[in-house]
Amino acid sequence: MSSARAFDVVVWGATGFTGRLVAEHLARDYKTGVRWAMAGRSQDRLEKLRLELSEQYGGELRDVPILVGDIKDQASLDSIAAQTRVMLSTAGPFALMGTPVVDAAVRGGCHYVDITGETPWVREIIGKYHEEAKKKNLRIVPCCGFDSIPFDLGALLVVRHLAERYGKQPARVLNVVMGSKGGVSGGTIASGMNAFSEMKRKPELRATASDVYALVPPEAKGGDGEFWGVQFCRELGKYLAPFVMQSCNNRVVHRSNYLLRYTEDSRDFRYQESVAAPSWFAARSVQLGTIAIVTAMSQTWLHPLLKKMLPAQGEGPTREMMLNGFYKNRVLAWSKEPAGEAPVLVQAEVGDPHRDGGYWGTSRMLLESALCLALQQKELEADKTLQKGGVLTPASAMGMLLVERLRKAGLTFKVLEDGAAAAGSS
Ligand SMILES: NC(=O)c1ccc[n+]([C@@H]2O[C@H](COP(=O)([O-])OP(=O)(O)OC[C@H]3O[C@@H](n4cnc5c(N)ncnc54)[C@H](OP(=O)(O)O)[C@@H]3O)[C@@H](O)[C@H]2O)c1
Repeated sequence: MSSARAFDVVVWGATGFTGRLVAEHLARDYKTGVRWAMAGRSQDRLEKLRLELSEQYGGELRDVPILVGDIKDQASLDSIAAQTRVMLSTAGPFALMGTPVVDAAVRGGCHYVDITGETPWVREIIGKYHEEAKKKNLRIVPCCGFDSIPFDLGALLVVRHLAERYGKQPARVLNVVMGSKGGVSGGTIASGMNAFSEMKRKPELRATASDVYALVPPEAKGGDGEFWGVQFCRELGKYLAPFVMQSCNNRVVHRSNYLLRYTEDSRDFRYQESVAAPSWFAARSVQLGTIAIVTAMSQTWLHPLLKKMLPAQGEGPTREMMLNGFYKNRVLAWSKEPAGEAPVLVQAEVGDPHRDGGYWGTSRMLLESALCLALQQKELEADKTLQKGGVLTPASAMGMLLVERLRKAGLTFKVLEDGAAAAGSS
């Protein structure tokens, strides 16, 4: 890629709820060292945002360039992609608005990151762009928000620790949300509703959406499924209930395993995602509540009513909610051993003690992913464990380099304890 490009990062969708937070992190924390521009469909809204940022964070921000594009005008997106090393996109629903942006990135020769959680769309762009991006050494990396960075990089952390400390491969990884606090935005709700509307229009998408192996080739499918039950986890002393965003994260982690070969035969790798609860009754409530939410969202006739009750597009949690939010995950990995031998258990803590994962956290994770691709190209090239191009996952595109960046940004990625453990978790 030409280093003569004007920008390291272009923030596409800067005027949206999450895009604005990305622009704010840049304005506040990267006053120097990063060449960036804000982009979107409305010159007026972008100018308003730039003015607000300059009033809040310094007059020099009045010079941040503005690029205007339209998803129905491919040439306008191509022109933006040609000027930057990385296109960062927060404009969703991605199934409606994402493909022309990825198309511009791949043809225009820049890397790409986004925060989609819409796996049927991710599968579509793998089919369309993986090979070309691979040939061109371009890293196209969807799912760089709360879905799925903490889960994908959490799994990578424990798998790497098993390999480096014990020379072992994992049989199984369990990612558990131990606690979290935050809100939800209108854009997220719109994307969820659109996913269900699309499934109604195209019933074939239903099978993709419920397949934990949706993002790997058919020959790489193993025997995993989604976890919708309630079970006891002996290691944590907690009950486990289903986690709603397994619908994205499981697929991403399985793609990372496929691309990075966590196990010699990637089909042997098992992965589960859950929420911890203090009692069986609490876990059962979470399970039933999760099923109720998914069922309500899947009823398209309810969408007009839900839209009236929930935040509108462009709206989201208050700053206070985001800065008083937190999330704390526990990741467990059991090594693969011959029958009858006790596996090694490795555990890690992943999270952010001071900010929500959904928006403040997501915008930061997305920005750090973009900066990793824009500014750490030599280190990325030197890391032989990483994929150099294609439609990738955070773990397979940036791996431990991104973990390091996120640690510096205040996130927790900590291996807790290790040693032999009894087989099984529940
Ligand atoms: N993975 C995660 O953890 C995570 C977390 C948060 C959000 N998300 C996802 O991120 C996306 C954005 O969420 P949000 O709450 O920030 O949404 P939002 O506030 O509604 O912002 C959407 C953005 O898309 C732009 N946009 C809408 N229609 C467009 C069009 N036709 N052409 C060009 N741009 C268009 C909007 O521009 P205007 O300002 O001009 O309208 C705005 O910048 C959603 O898909 C959501 O699900 C994911």
